[in-house]
Parts: sequence; structure tokens; C-alpha cells
Amino acid sequence: MINFEFRNPTKIIFGTETEQQVGKEAAAYGKKVLLHYGGGSIKQTGLYDRVTASLEAAGLEVIELSGVKPNPRLSLVREGIELCKLHSIDLILAVGGGSVIDSAKAIGVGAVYSGDVWDFFTGKQEPKGSLPVAVILTIPAAGSESSPGSVITQEEGGYKRAFNSSHSYPVFSILNPELAVTLPAYQIACGTTDILAHMIERYFTNVTHVDLTDHLLEGAMRTVIRQAPRLLEHPDDYDTWAEVMWTGTIAHNNLLDTGRIGDWASHDIEHELSGKFDIAHGAGLAIIIPAWMKYVYTHDIERFVRFAVMVMDVELDINDPIQTVTEGIYRLESHFRRMGVPVRLSEAGIDESSFEEMADKGSASGTKSVGNFVKLGRDDMLKIFALAR
Ligand code: NZQ
Ligand code: ZN
Repeated sequence: MINFEFRNPTKIIFGTETEQQVGKEAAAYGKKVLLHYGGGSIKQTGLYDRVTASLEAAGLEVIELSGVKPNPRLSLVREGIELCKLHSIDLILAVGGGSVIDSAKAIGVGAVYSGDVWDFFTGKQEPKGSLPVAVILTIPAAGSESSPGSVITQEEGGYKRAFNSSHSYPVFSILNPELAVTLPAYQIACGTTDILAHMIERYFTNVTHVDLTDHLLEGAMRTVIRQAPRLLEHPDDYDTWAEVMWTGTIAHNNLLDTGRIGDWASHDIEHELSGKFDIAHGAGLAIIIPAWMKYVYTHDIERFVRFAVMVMDVELDINDPIQTVTEGIYRLESHFRRMGVPVRLSEAGIDESSFEEMADKGSASGTKSVGNFVKLGRDDMLKIFALAR
């Protein structure tokens, strides 16, 4: 196990009707709230009315910025930064999923910075502070509700880039599983794929003696694989949503990272897909992860055998470990297919003509690698795209 520091400052408020507490919680941060949300699902579900009523009852002034798109855009972030400066906003309240939360986090760091907020995404600068960001989560998926990260797409060129900063943990996140019951099947599939992906990225590590987090990851991955299909059959079942929502937060709040180094190649490669083609992040992951596994499993067959046996319930074939590994990857793909996400680039309408461009962008024209379990360069990305064809 390697040395680590662990601190996750986000206050989690979990359970039924918890959104009613937002006014009281938000009032601790000042008087003016920027209410940030997406394309309108919160109005259709009635959540918007409950949230604004709670904020107003707490005596807060509300300024709104809606219109966050999945794969959130830099232009709206810039608009939000201007609004925060103009109205001297005290707290940004993100009501939605990863896209809204990430947009809020970018606005938060940009509002207290004199330069261009994109500097944080290119690595030119690190955030030195942020306006406080709070969350009401409506889709368990990205884990952004208690992560330090933000992922934004710059429209010109389709560059989807991320930063991580200790200043960007939400100050509080309200998790009411009831709010997820209106999600369409495809968003359920994409969200639960992302949750699983966050744990797969952490599971494949070269660090040894991480038995505790190995077992926690295996248990949490099994939970998602078991519960996710139930959501498709019973999308209004509170208890199943509760299991999935809490697993989604734990999957990405860095507890399961402690003492180990995650891989993250699949996420980096996926961002080239969703950046260029505007597909859902979870769908991109369902395409890339099985191909990545097929490409790298020889690096540590034992770990892939353990994944197959402990997570995918494959019976160990002691005489043919590669057969065990292959069956594990096949079962993971079958799970994704059953959920309804694409598992091949062609199923997402992406063909070979864009492989070179995506590999160029993902490797900064061959000058940088992705991944920690196995370091992958431009040629490796091309081979993974070929396997995902
Ligand atoms: O915009 P509205 O109308 O609200 O509709 C949204 C959106 O179309 C809809 N939706 C959300 N809650 C709903 C609902 N529809 C009905 N009922 C509800 N209760 O769902 C759609 C997708 O929302 P989005 O926020 O894009 O989903 P998700 O949470 O999967 O976020 C994806 C983004 O998060 C980033 C991804 O790259 C992607 O841009 N990620 C952020 C991470 C982080 N900050 O730590 C880590 C992740 O790995 C990921 O990269
Ligand atoms: Zn993700």
C-alpha cells in the first residue's frame, strides 16, 4: 500500500424529501444563490418549485442560470462566471447530474480568478479558491457530488478536459433517491455504467497489499451489477435507487482509492469520444472498457482472473486462466448490452475515419501517455479503437 492523505469534506444529506432542507443549508453561506440547472427535467418533475420555495423561505435571493447540456460547455461556464461577479453570488447551487455539477464547479473557480477559466483545464494554472458549490443530485452517475473534479467541453475543436482541485468539493450534497425515478432507461444505463467504470479504473492497479480496498471495490461493483438491471424493471423502486445512488457517491469520493493508484486510461480515451461526438459519457465507457481490457489483460493475468471470479462470478478454470479472463470480459459486455448501452463504436455511429484524430488529441500528438496500470500512447489508442470497432 502506498502513502495517502484522505479528506472528503462534502456533507452528505441522504434520504427521502431531503431537498426540503436546501434553504436552511444554503443560508449558512450567505444571501445570494446562483441556481444552476440543465434542460428542464427539474421543472417537469416539480423539483424546481420545491427548491425555489425552500430557498425563498430561508430568505435567499435566487439568480438562475439554466441550459446546461450533457457534456457541459465552456461558453455557459463563462456566462455563469459573469453572473456571479455581477450579482456578488455567495453560493452556487447545482440541481442536476454530473454535467450541471461540473459546470457549477467551473463557474466557482472561474468567479474568483482574474484569468481565463480554461487555464485550469489545460493545466496552465491551478485553482487557488472557489465560490462554494452545493448540489441536489438528480442522477446517480458521475460521482461529481462529492468529487474534486470538473469536466468541461470547449466547443471549438471538441476538447473535453478536466481539472481536480481540493477547492471544488461541494460543500454539501443532497441525495434523495426519489428524485431519480423519472430517469429514462438510457440514462439509467449510462449512469450505472459510469459508476461501475469508476470502480474498474481504481481496481486495476499495480500497487500490491491493497486487500481492504480490493474487497470494498469488489463488493461495490457487485452491488451495481446486481441492482442496475433491477432499475430497468422497477424504475420507481426507492430501495434499489438508494443502493445505486449511494454506491455512485462512494465509487468516486476517493475512499476506494486510498493506498492505491487507479488507471484512468479508459476515462481519458472516452473523453475523446464524448468530446467529439457528444455521446453520453457512460455509453463511451461501455465501448472503451471491454476493448481496453482485451488490450491490456496480459499485463497482469492474475488480476483479471480475480476480477472475473470475484466480480463477474466466473468459475475459475485453473488449467486455462485466459479462458477465465475472456469469460469475465464477455460477461461485463453482456451486462452492458443488457442495460442497453452500445459496446462497439459502430453501434454509436463512429467509424474508422475519426480514429487518427481522436488518438492525436488523446495523446497530444503522440507526446503524452494515458493510464497508470499500463501506460498507453497514440498507437495503443489506435489499437484499442480497432478492438472497439
Ligand atoms: O438537462 P436535464 O433536462 O436535467 O436532463 C438531464 C440530462 O439530459 C437528464 N436528467 C438528469 N436527472 C434527471 C434527468 N432526466 C429525468 N429525470 C431526472 N431525475 O439526464 C441527462 C444527463 O445528465 P448529465 O448530468 O449529463 O449526466 P451525468 O450525471 O452522467 O453526467 C455526465 C457528465 O459528468 C462527467 C462526464 O464526463 C459528463 O460530462 N463526469 C464528471 C466527473 C466528475 N466531475 O467527477 C467524473 C465522471 O467520470 C465524468 O467524467
Ligand atoms: Zn466517469
